[in-house]
Amino acid sequence: MRIFLIGFMGCGKSTMGKKLAVKLGYEFIDLDHQIELSIGTTIAEYFSVHGEAAFRKLESETLKTFDYPANSVIATGGGAPCFFDNIEWMNASGLSIYIEMPAAALAKRLESGKEKRPLLRDLNEAEMIEFIEKKLNEREVFYKRALLTVNGINLTADAMRAIILSRQ
Ligand code: S3P
Repeated sequence: MRIFLIGFMGCGKSTMGKKLAVKLGYEFIDLDHQIELSIGTTIAEYFSVHGEAAFRKLESETLKTFDYPANSVIATGGGAPCFFDNIEWMNASGLSIYIEMPAAALAKRLESGKEKRPLLRDLNEAEMIEFIEKKLNEREVFYKRALLTVNGINLTADAMRAIILSRQ
């Protein structure tokens, strides 16, 4: 089974994904990392040179053409489900799970690590919370198309594993 983790930047897709993969005995794939390997530079650098539209195209192509191991947990970028038919593709190709988290909690978690995120790197604290609220609001319509939604606050890999297994 392929499990696609989706949700806003900072909701824990990579951290939780790694732990969940260990619990399930699956492989862990970080899609952003795979993109960086294929372009030979960081996503932040790619964004500033080629712009967001080019990144979204590359992201969608990578999502749809990556040779996923049969059993894998895949952390996708925060914008991935919100462009093209990516969320429908994920739903048709595996189990998509939205890790839901309120804007205030995301802002707190994103304080460190915002440098590597091109959409956040130039924002101050006040601008950041405003940006997150607005973007989350726009994106929720896509995130909520996931086959499963879990509350990201105090989420554990054991709880996630139990939710996934109870669905089978
Ligand atoms: C993005 C999220 C990032 C990365 C890129 C754009 C977004 O991934 O794909 O910087 O549009 O939300 P993370 O969600 O892993 O930070």
